[in-house]
Amino acid sequence: MEVQQTLFENPPIERAGQYPRFRYMGSKHKLLSWISHALKDLSFETALDGFSGSGAVSYLLKTMGKSVTSNDFLHFSHILTRATVENNHITLDDKDMESLLTPHSGRKDFIQKTFKGIFFTPEDLLFLDNTYAQISEFSNPYKKSLALTCLIRACVKKQPRGVFTVSGDLSNYNDGRRDLRISMKQHFTEQINLFNELIFDNGHTHYSINQDIFAIENPEAYDLVYLDPPYVPRSDDNCYVKRYHFLEGLSKYWEKEEILYDTKVHKIKKKYTPFSYRSKAVEAFDRMFDLFRSSIIVLSYSSNGYPHLKELTSLLGKHKKEVFVLEKDHQYHFGNHKKVTRSKVKEYLIIGK
Ligand SMILES: C[S@@+](CC[C@H](N)C(=O)[O-])C[C@H]1O[C@@H](n2cnc3c(N)ncnc32)[C@H](O)[C@@H]1O
Repeated sequence: MEVQQTLFENPPIERAGQYPRFRYMGSKHKLLSWISHALKDLSFETALDGFSGSGAVSYLLKTMGKSVTSNDFLHFSHILTRATVENNHITLDDKDMESLLTPHSGRKDFIQKTFKGIFFTPEDLLFLDNTYAQISEFSNPYKKSLALTCLIRACVKKQPRGVFTVSGDLSNYNDGRRDLRISMKQHFTEQINLFNELIFDNGHTHYSINQDIFAIENPEAYDLVYLDPPYVPRSDDNCYVKRYHFLEGLSKYWEKEEILYDTKVHKIKKKYTPFSYRSKAVEAFDRMFDLFRSSIIVLSYSSNGYPHLKELTSLLGKHKKEVFVLEKDHQYHFGNHKKVTRSKVKEYLIIGK
């Protein structure tokens, strides 16, 4: 197995680098320039980002001039890429902004009632209920997704560490930072200005879908498939719903979601994925490589994941003629400002052609 340590200077990726950070677990935002350099020598026009998460890699692919399909089984991830990747033209103007900030006579109080004393101030919770009601008035799906994306990012910025696992007294995390001081309303209006700037047309049609990876239709339709599944964790867990349940619920006003009222933070039910289980992951990788055997496969992986690199490359070798690996040192940061744990890992791009 050949592993190439990538020592080249990564070229600047100005446009993709402006994609906002969502503090998303496993986000490849910091690696975009490396990924773009690795992809640039591969010949492809259509690309699937199968586990799009924060949407950073999908947006990178769009800036590279590709026709992109983004997929994630979380609804809020799908909303992010519908707003920033599938959407080529629609922005929110002053009139939209004004209507979004106007009191809505028919607004509900579900968020205020369900999350009182758990997340955010009563004013912020009222703002979320009201803004969701106003967003529902938009008939254009891209306006809706874009406004929801801004609301989601406002919540990420206002929540210490950007995760929704802890509630109540968060003064330990409060280091006076502006993001924690300003209101949800102010965050939201700032996000609208920021996200409007991201919308552009690269001349292609794009799609954002919300499926389990194994339910993707026409898997042979993509020249290249970028796969960044969760890693089976060594300790703790890798559950996205546990961390981001509030954003997932907000993206659809908790419609058809079962809330676990016996949990402190009123989580929703976790979603099953075979990639989280040691006993299921190998078979899942094998099945996924087989599903996309007619495309170039680019798999993001890291040295702290399971199965190990050798096993993954030989699995991919069963389905692709040529397999090679690019490697880069990377450091993930966990924790708050006062207590940060740094975890040194090697990031891999395992490429099968
Ligand atoms: C490591 S993250 C992807 C990060 C992303 N590349 C980024 O830069 O933000 C893994 C993603 O896989 C999604 N996921 C997990 N199992 C899935 C499945 N079976 N089908 C589709 N998406 C899945 C999770 O919701 C999560 O967003």
